[in-house]
Amino acid sequence: MVNSMMTEAQVREALADVEDPEIGRPLADLGMIEAVAVDGGAVRVSILLPTPAYPGRERITEAVSSKLTEAESVEVDFSSRVRGKESGGKIGLSVKNIIAVGSGKGGVGKSTVSAAIACGLKRAGTRVGLLDADVYGPSIPHLMGASGQLTAREVTTPEGQVLPRIEPIEADGVKLLSIGFQIEKDQAVVWRGPMLHKQLTLFLQHTDWGELDYLVIDMPPGTGDVALSLSQMVQAAGAVVVCTPQEVALLDAIKAISMFHTVKIPVLGMVENMSGEIFGRGGTRAKAEELGVPFLGEIPCEAAVRVRGDEGRIADLYADDSPVRDALQHVCERTAIEVARRLLETPSMPTLELL
Ligand SMILES: Nc1ncnc2c1ncn2[C@@H]1O[C@H](COP(=O)(O)OP(=O)(O)OP(=O)(O)O)[C@@H](O)[C@H]1O
Ligand SMILES: [Mg+2]
Repeated sequence: MVNSMMTEAQVREALADVEDPEIGRPLADLGMIEAVAVDGGAVRVSILLPTPAYPGRERITEAVSSKLTEAESVEVDFSSRVRGKESGGKIGLSVKNIIAVGSGKGGVGKSTVSAAIACGLKRAGTRVGLLDADVYGPSIPHLMGASGQLTAREVTTPEGQVLPRIEPIEADGVKLLSIGFQIEKDQAVVWRGPMLHKQLTLFLQHTDWGELDYLVIDMPPGTGDVALSLSQMVQAAGAVVVCTPQEVALLDAIKAISMFHTVKIPVLGMVENMSGEIFGRGGTRAKAEELGVPFLGEIPCEAAVRVRGDEGRIADLYADDSPVRDALQHVCERTAIEVARRLLETPSMPTLELL
């Protein structure tokens, strides 16, 4: 049958207006049709996803297949490459996407959600770092079951400057850095703004993060000090704002969103944490809609979350029998998609630049 012999160009033309179901723009325009191979009546389309944490690939398979009904057979295969600002900046920070996790109010689960997002993105097959920027109440080492003293080695820059390079500590395949590693556990940290900036500089510029697809940053609650420093140092992909369903936390979340706007860190979306009978449910989604901010999902209030956190086993929340596995996976996917969307919508993003 003559019709079954499509050329590569015909295949590409047939697929020209197939949209990415997540980003809502043509796959071809997004550079996601990596290859088209035609062998007689058999067509193979290779799709390059912007993140391996991509939900519902079968929707792409269906959309592509439905345009190629003339072909005898259609095969769609997937690979992924995390997009980001590939350039490492002057001091060699090779992180494609920096994701800040913040809230207006303390105790809403920022650290838990940061650690869970980092573990989820790692599970999806990406290279992930987790930076505890909550210097007042560092909890990442505890949540990730990591301990130890940070070590630093000295490196000489091409300009002849000798600088310390801190080695992150790895847990569950995630590179971690926290002031909690340096200090005695019960030593309170009281720092003023400039010191804070210095610490963050050390943690971002003078740390051997290697190449990362995502660096998740657990932000301290409230004040914008750290967010301001962060925005001066790097071009973050965006911020995830965590809140609980209670109205008071929602008001604080609005403050957090406006704080991120002020320091020009784009808001990726809002997550409702501890969703359930005790605190109510759904308030965050409604507020996100009202504010025109993406809603990234809700994580139920489950004892397992606190227990795994206390045990330092946040990664286990992705186990098959975990009551929050699907919810966390959803939040990770939505976050990764929002990061990708922003990059793909502005293809000529400035490269990563550090002070
Ligand atoms: N979805 C959840 N279900 C049950 N408990 C949770 C959930 N999320 C967080 N928690 C628990 O709530 C407490 C506070 O969480 P977490 O430390 O992550 O909050 P935080 O916002 O980082 O707090 P802080 O402002 O002190 O840094 C912890 O005991 C944690 O285990
Ligand atoms: Mg915290």
